[in-house]
Amino acid sequence: MTLRTPEAWTGRFGAILAVAGSAVGLGNFIRFPAQAAQYGGGAFMLAYFASFLIIGIPLVWAEWTLGRMGGKHGYHSAAGVLHSVVHRPWAKYLGGLGFLIVTLIFVYYISIEAWCLGYTVNALLGRFDGSTDYGAFFGTFVGAGANGSAIAFGLGDLGLFLLATFALNFYFIHRGISRGIETVCRYALPALLALALVILARVLTLGTPDPTKPDQNVINGLGFLWNPSKPGLSVFDDLANPQLWLAAASQVFFSLSIGMGVIITYASYLKPRDDVALSGLTAAAANEACEVGIGGTLTVPAAYVFLGASGVAALAGQTIGLGFIALPQVLANMPGGQALAVCYFGLLFLAALTSSLSMLQPGIALLEEGPGFDRGRSVGLLALLTALGAAFVWYFSADLKALDTIDFWVANVLIFIQATAVIIVFGWVIGIKQGLAETRRGAKMHVPDFVGPVMKYLCPAYLLAIFGLFVVNKIVGWNFRFGADAAFSPSGYVTDLVGPEPSAVARASFALIVAFLIFTLLLVRHSARRWQARANLTPAPSPLNPSSR
Ligand code: PFF
Repeated sequence: MTLRTPEAWTGRFGAILAVAGSAVGLGNFIRFPAQAAQYGGGAFMLAYFASFLIIGIPLVWAEWTLGRMGGKHGYHSAAGVLHSVVHRPWAKYLGGLGFLIVTLIFVYYISIEAWCLGYTVNALLGRFDGSTDYGAFFGTFVGAGANGSAIAFGLGDLGLFLLATFALNFYFIHRGISRGIETVCRYALPALLALALVILARVLTLGTPDPTKPDQNVINGLGFLWNPSKPGLSVFDDLANPQLWLAAASQVFFSLSIGMGVIITYASYLKPRDDVALSGLTAAAANEACEVGIGGTLTVPAAYVFLGASGVAALAGQTIGLGFIALPQVLANMPGGQALAVCYFGLLFLAALTSSLSMLQPGIALLEEGPGFDRGRSVGLLALLTALGAAFVWYFSADLKALDTIDFWVANVLIFIQATAVIIVFGWVIGIKQGLAETRRGAKMHVPDFVGPVMKYLCPAYLLAIFGLFVVNKIVGWNFRFGADAAFSPSGYVTDLVGPEPSAVARASFALIVAFLIFTLLLVRHSARRWQARANLTPAPSPLNPSSR
């Protein structure tokens, strides 16, 4: 039987669900609390909300709008959409970044997703109890000790779960937009919400479990997340740290799935008059509710109650340590700990699944509309490409070096470049007037006029400032703090590549990124030739640039 894939959402709600499914992921439940803990709770939240308002919402609207515009011309990949909307030779290559970013994120995100599945199964089988040493379990499971040691297939190893997770993702993506992605989101999102509420209810009613440590209670845990200043420090001490602003902006990107081409692709399957303004805002708000309302509220107080302020501070920035070692240990201490562990890892797995599916569709779209493969072939080719990358990450498991290196360069550098390009295209190349007119077409809400200057000036300026900070801080290594002495030390990610003692795995991971980049450029160039040939056959004037076609 041949599978017919209807390439459209069943309705506007389907698109909102899918974008929310992409946004709500591991970023909400483990990356966010780890970042908030690292940068002092409340001060981080201020920078986080500033980033959400100044770059988050503008990019959400820009991407939803561009996507729907491209869809009208029959394009669904970011490369195709920018090619069809902008008509400049460089546009399609910038769009190609969309393919590169999500494909590379997929190759390591799928590993973490497989950890979640493995942990869920182990919890369900009752293999975790109060005496489990999660640190030791984790080290063996992911092969953190030695390269190649994760290539094993027992219940306590990654292999089986990685293959299962991979197969599941490609099964659903092959089913298509509405029968695959939308259906998964329709069930997974409510299910993960229900699981989260169970854990939330447990955590928020913990009170003060250890009467000998009256300070370690839920209220103080919430205070740790929200209080803008810490005893003896003003909020400005934290806010003077440029790293905090960087971390907040990166979190907003990663969490909202912006700057990656995902929303552009998803919105391209809308109908020309479907609303984008309210839909974009709704999906973004749903993500924030899950991130701040659940991810932060569940994780930080739970860790605080059992580990205290110093224990939480020790987890600073350790996304993976928090999610797979500390929090499971904390849950195991609570009454009903085994059931809570099932809920927690099940929740993480479902959240990760709806996100990883969204990393595949932009690639499928480009393979379908570029070289013109059918869905089956596109899915097969993308499976092959990502399997190579995922196997690389699986093999180079020592210290999770490959995973960490790819994450750093892709989820920081490439996302900023793509996001800046998208907002400049929207505000300056298309022009803010025409861009906003497009956003307002069919809008189910009022998009106020002040959004224009925010999208045209403030958002790109903020992005460039943050990217400048990143280069100065992490690449050049000038670690200044306003009002304090500066230190000079390039980040380990840079010295791993070009320092006196380079890391072979970091270099190989970087080479993998470059290889994917070259593949992407060739793919986009080949696609553009076909698009050009098609345009030459059926010349159609463009509303933006009538003479260019
Ligand atoms: N937004 C997802 C999360 O918070 O975990 C991560 C993500 C989704 C990254 C989709 C990239 C992407 F294309």
